[in-house]
Amino acid sequence: MTDSAGSLGPDTELSAAFLDRVTGDTPFLQRWIWERQVDSTQRLARERGATDGPGLLVIADEQTRGRGRQGRTWFSPAGAGLWMSLVLAPRRPGDAWPLLTSLTALALRDALDAAAGIGCGIKWPNDLNHRGRKIAGILADVGPPGMVALGIGLNVRQTDGDFPAEVRGLATSVRIASGAVFSRGALLDGFLRAFGGWLARFEAGEDAAIIRALRGASLLLGRTVVVVREGSGEEVRGEAVGIGPLGELVVETGSPMRQVRLMSGSVLRVVPPLEVAS
Ligand code: BTN
Repeated sequence: MTDSAGSLGPDTELSAAFLDRVTGDTPFLQRWIWERQVDSTQRLARERGATDGPGLLVIADEQTRGRGRQGRTWFSPAGAGLWMSLVLAPRRPGDAWPLLTSLTALALRDALDAAAGIGCGIKWPNDLNHRGRKIAGILADVGPPGMVALGIGLNVRQTDGDFPAEVRGLATSVRIASGAVFSRGALLDGFLRAFGGWLARFEAGEDAAIIRALRGASLLLGRTVVVVREGSGEEVRGEAVGIGPLGELVVETGSPMRQVRLMSGSVLRVVPPLEVAS
């Protein structure tokens, strides 16, 4: 393990000097931990957040047990992506925190646009997609007490053949989307800047601006969706008609007209399919 007090080799792209500089420029971060290999940055971030407090970035070259939403595995090979977790103590009551995943997705979208010229959309609740394929995912865990851990996985350098068979064709990377190999450091820097801007808006209560941006970035609005509710497993089918004040998806179902507000879930089907969108 290397942390803010330690030092990495000078040849590594995410060097100690680099991480010192980017976190030094980032008001919501006080410390970082870099691991060559870890089971999950999210696990480590929550553990270290509990002992050392918020303001922490945990980033790893490789995760051996990267965790996705709903118990899924996040494929995180060495050097291929940005695998990281932020531990924050947002200056708003916990009932507003669901918006944090949405603004993380907005920040990733902005960073990819600015740094790599890739136009992505957000597939509710928190996948970032490019041409119908997932380029990044976000995992939010509440806790340690008073804190939230935001886990971010951004595929950067994979080619199609690098993805495991079960996600090949469904997942993409910055390299596939742009045709270029980008530095993870530049993408991290761009993401932290963009995230800082959105976090400041969140903390200032500018939820309307966040929701407006989410609506603009949403890939589902106006499409027919089938969503499996988290927990109950109930399938909700209808037209995605809005994004609510906490980032929830508003779906208009069947007859009689009934609007359902979904806080979390998995999108099973989208019509017309997202492949036809950017
Ligand atoms: C998803 O789309 O299912 C969420 C994926 C989140 C993956 C990231 S990678 C860094 C952090 N550590 C983990 O174990 N998971 C998150």
